[in-house]
Amino acid sequence: MSNRKILVTSALPYANSGIHLGHLMEVIQTDIWVRLQKMRGHDCVYVCADDAHGTAIMLSAEAQGIEPEQHIERINRAHQEDFAGFHIGFDNYYTTHSEENREFAETIFARLDANGHISRRKITQLYDPEKQMFLADRFIKGTCPKCRSEDQYGDNCEVCGSTYSPTELIDPRSTISGATPIEKESEHLFFRLPEFTEFLQAWTRSGTLQTQVANKLAEWLDSGLQEWDISRDAPYFGFEIPGHPGKYFYVWVDAPIGYMASFKNLCSRSDYDFDAYWKADSDAELYHFIGKDIVNFHTLFWPSMLKSAGFRTPTAVNVHGFLTVDGKKMSKSRGTFINARTYLEHLDPEYLRYYLAAKMSDGVDDLDLNLEDFVQRVNTDLVNKFVNIASRCAGFISRGFAGQLASETAEPELIREFQLAGETIAGHFERREYSKAMREIMALADRANQYINDRQPWVLAKQNPQDPQVQAICSVGLNLFRLLVIYLKPVLPVLATKAEAFLQVDSLTWGDATTLLTGTSIGPFQPLLHRVEMDKVQAVLDATREELGQQQAASPEPVATPGGPALEAEIEIDDFFKVDLRVVRIVAAEQVAGADKLLRLELDLGHDEQGRQLSRTVFSGIKSAYDPDQLVGRLTVMVANLKPRQMKFGLSEGMVLAAGPGGKEIFLLEPDSGARPGMRVT
Ligand code: 2FM
Ligand code: ZN
Repeated sequence: MSNRKILVTSALPYANSGIHLGHLMEVIQTDIWVRLQKMRGHDCVYVCADDAHGTAIMLSAEAQGIEPEQHIERINRAHQEDFAGFHIGFDNYYTTHSEENREFAETIFARLDANGHISRRKITQLYDPEKQMFLADRFIKGTCPKCRSEDQYGDNCEVCGSTYSPTELIDPRSTISGATPIEKESEHLFFRLPEFTEFLQAWTRSGTLQTQVANKLAEWLDSGLQEWDISRDAPYFGFEIPGHPGKYFYVWVDAPIGYMASFKNLCSRSDYDFDAYWKADSDAELYHFIGKDIVNFHTLFWPSMLKSAGFRTPTAVNVHGFLTVDGKKMSKSRGTFINARTYLEHLDPEYLRYYLAAKMSDGVDDLDLNLEDFVQRVNTDLVNKFVNIASRCAGFISRGFAGQLASETAEPELIREFQLAGETIAGHFERREYSKAMREIMALADRANQYINDRQPWVLAKQNPQDPQVQAICSVGLNLFRLLVIYLKPVLPVLATKAEAFLQVDSLTWGDATTLLTGTSIGPFQPLLHRVEMDKVQAVLDATREELGQQQAASPEPVATPGGPALEAEIEIDDFFKVDLRVVRIVAAEQVAGADKLLRLELDLGHDEQGRQLSRTVFSGIKSAYDPDQLVGRLTVMVANLKPRQMKFGLSEGMVLAAGPGGKEIFLLEPDSGARPGMRVT
């Protein structure tokens, strides 16, 4: 096995909020990969940092009445604690607000400029005359120019989905001061990205990207690249651009440069050689793990900047999808926008590491944390299968043989099978197919348990606790367990450490799978992992909702005053938030044989974020009011997240809402009402 030099990064979290499950999914994916490489003897370095610049962070510090430097330092400490809590083994965790980063940003900018890759021109933007600052789109709200919905952001309307320029908003206002923005001109610096089109065409097709990502990039490249605005006007928390007083590097310029800076910082207190990893012809490997929302920054701007500045480009950019909880985007009101801290107060971090690993692949699809499945999977796989192997064998060895394992291992074939699986499992890890690795490992755990079941050492021990057969069987069991500990160690580093203590062995590496334990002693068996209890999971959700309540109490949103007596039993706003109401188009409607009131409706819910068509089948009691033919093409509102119900005539996947006196008159939305399928009803 040749010794590879590998540098790995995860995306740099913004220094303006806590670490949540979404961040954790990414760092857990990366950490598992890094741990595997280290166990296999490669020189693998994992660096990360806080992404400390930008307007949001500046305003956040201001709101607390502290300097941004103080704010980002506090957050940095909290982030590092959270990551450590999940056993993320960074070799360095730094900040983009560092001298190293300033130097690299300046050097790279100077080189881009010298190479003619920077242009400058004046642009007009909205400006807050009170706060005296230019406003990014997300700091402007107003009335949508298309559908007239109020309180929409500067670049797109969440109600009708249209996109526009902030200058088109009706009654725009700054969300910072409330002032009406004015238009103002200012000179900006641009990175000439279109000049890198050919380079990017080759780079994105050279095995650096997953196919889905490469295809997306091909679309962008085909539709033509735009110059990238890399400057921001003061006031801005960041690095001032040399030679351009009052202009700052846009946060996304010095964010990826932060990968270099964090590594450079590590070099300054270790033997690592910066140039060996970053020079243009470096033979080291460089991997960035990122989410699908920041692909453009890492696969267009970043490699082009590196190329122009004479540095190496990434070996690969590994993109993952988003984390959903119980099938939905994480939500504060549902209690599923879970902070690292909150999770750690109730649950073992290795549960999450294992569950995510058991579902992770190398693709960009979203990964769902299904909470019931989480409890079940962890208990079944880790407690009932894996840890069980050791707990079934340990007692017999301790009691009958003073803790000593047999001096020779029986069952060479079974053991060989476990040893041979190591390379397959490592291959799955290497390709980020962790779910395949976990499946393989659990299949082996089943084999080990089956072996113990077949041999029934407890029956033999009852006759004679010192029967050499008992020692032989349990020694095989514990050796199989040890091999599985090696394979699971990238995922469960702490459990592995406890197992090493129990087996009385040094820190296990991948290569240790070629050896076995014979004649050595084991320590007393301690439970290695407790079962997950559903009430602990519930406690996390409750605590998360409580945090939301506290946040709202600290900065209350205006509360609508009730308009009169309640019509029905009152519900909490949280109950209402649970209802996912959507405009849908009826694309097919038909009679249901044998049903008096029902029609079978095929509904079009528009598209999801990945552009996939969403549709549902619903049985609806509106037959008395409509001929099926009249319904096709009409719009209605549906409860899209109603649990599917098995009805006599088939599965109904939601409920259609209609208003009217009932009987023959039930009102649906008219097709020309301006509504579109997929619109959320709020
Ligand atoms: O999207 C984000 O959270 C950014 N802070 C990620 C930056 S990654 C890298 F470029 F720094
Ligand atoms: Zn609109």
